[in-house]
Amino acid sequence: MDSILVTGNGPLNGQIPIAGAKNACLTLMPATLLSEEPLTLTNAPRLSDIKTMTALLQSLGAEVSSLQDGQVIAMSSHTLTSQTADYDIVRKMRASNLVLGPLLARFGQAVVSLPGGCAIGARPMDLHVEGLEALGAEIELKDGYLHAKAPGGLKGAVHEMRFASVGATENIVMAATLAKGTTVLKNAAREPEIVDLVECLRKMGAQISGEGTSTIEIQGVDRLNGATHQVVTDRIELGTYMLAPAICGGEVELLGGRMSLVESFAEKLDAAGVSVAETENGLKVARKKGRVQAVDVVTEPFPGFPTDLQAQMMALMCTAEGTSVLEERIFENRFMHAPELVRMGANIEVHGGTATVTGVESLKGAPVMATDLRASVSLILAGLAAEGETTVSRVYHLDRGYEHVVRKLEGVGAKIERIKGQ
Ligand code: EPZ
Repeated sequence: MDSILVTGNGPLNGQIPIAGAKNACLTLMPATLLSEEPLTLTNAPRLSDIKTMTALLQSLGAEVSSLQDGQVIAMSSHTLTSQTADYDIVRKMRASNLVLGPLLARFGQAVVSLPGGCAIGARPMDLHVEGLEALGAEIELKDGYLHAKAPGGLKGAVHEMRFASVGATENIVMAATLAKGTTVLKNAAREPEIVDLVECLRKMGAQISGEGTSTIEIQGVDRLNGATHQVVTDRIELGTYMLAPAICGGEVELLGGRMSLVESFAEKLDAAGVSVAETENGLKVARKKGRVQAVDVVTEPFPGFPTDLQAQMMALMCTAEGTSVLEERIFENRFMHAPELVRMGANIEVHGGTATVTGVESLKGAPVMATDLRASVSLILAGLAAEGETTVSRVYHLDRGYEHVVRKLEGVGAKIERIKGQ
């Protein structure tokens, strides 16, 4: 297994290009299952999760071609050979469950393995099942698989979700595009990735309104066409790299960044003493003066503070002046980066879903272990600011969500290299 060696090397200066959003691409790719015609995605990120989704769609019989070094994904689901998403793929990536809604809508049946838990929580699918059952699906759990069918097709309905689940919103919206009649989805998730999915579905001929709000309305149509769609900028990669100059000092421009993608996050950084300014090419980030100040964080569904930036923000708070309380309200076990940061000299106390961080003058480099995707990059951020060397092991977690991390950070002056594992 590879590891990454980071050496604290002072302020960072320069530009970092931000890629297309992993979490948009992972819902846009299954959308190809809704149509017999080709769907092409541009600005796609080069990530292992995208490769996993590619393998899953190909296992169903879809044609998926990766072009231009992975930045273009050309897909066609004209003739599928299977409607079963096997456990051995789904267990690797929960987002595989996003084939459920499209398969059910187009073919009236789907067999999708339950994803099983992962490092950050149990991650059940009850909200997906409730929504699809509201559209008339019959779904049974057998041998760890969801067996879903809608022999007479799906029917539009009014459905209110108990929680604004991102994945459940995506599955239900995709299914509703081909249902008979109108669907009104209440307490829908409002993430930019859902807005991006709806914009793509609309290009394919879907009749949808309300995306980005808590109520999305879908008029079912008989069939969808093909389309070409540019994947929206990755707001989590953007937020992650905004923290690099915040924790190290210096000034970095994030190319392709837009304030609308990270509004609440930018407000928190501003309160912590980090300036975020829009430029014609993206966002420019720099510390206002001296040490950053501790701020409290509560993770919430969009437009609140993103749970996917909590681990990275904790790294910044480890070096802030004062005490910060971080409350993780989305996942039940998303503080596994905390003990690793403590190995670097951080002062963190975790009680249930709350972490109390008392900032220290400086972290000390140490060997640490990545436990999940966002934890891995929070350790790299800490290593950038620490005195001495930090080795982050198990970086396969990192490859799931961040392309070319070493190159992007080297480009702004970081001392970082990837060490090939045995
Ligand atoms: C998406 O996961 C993202 N993944 C996650 O990003 C992100 O953390 C999450 O949304 C929240 O923003 C993709 O988009 C591929 P949820 P998803 O359904 O859809 C519970 C990353 O780092 N829940 O909004 O799985 C669930 O257990 C990943 O890129 C149910 O209880 O998130 C969790 O506690 C990590 N029942 C909470 O809701 C359900 O049926 C949020 O889950 C579904 C979810």
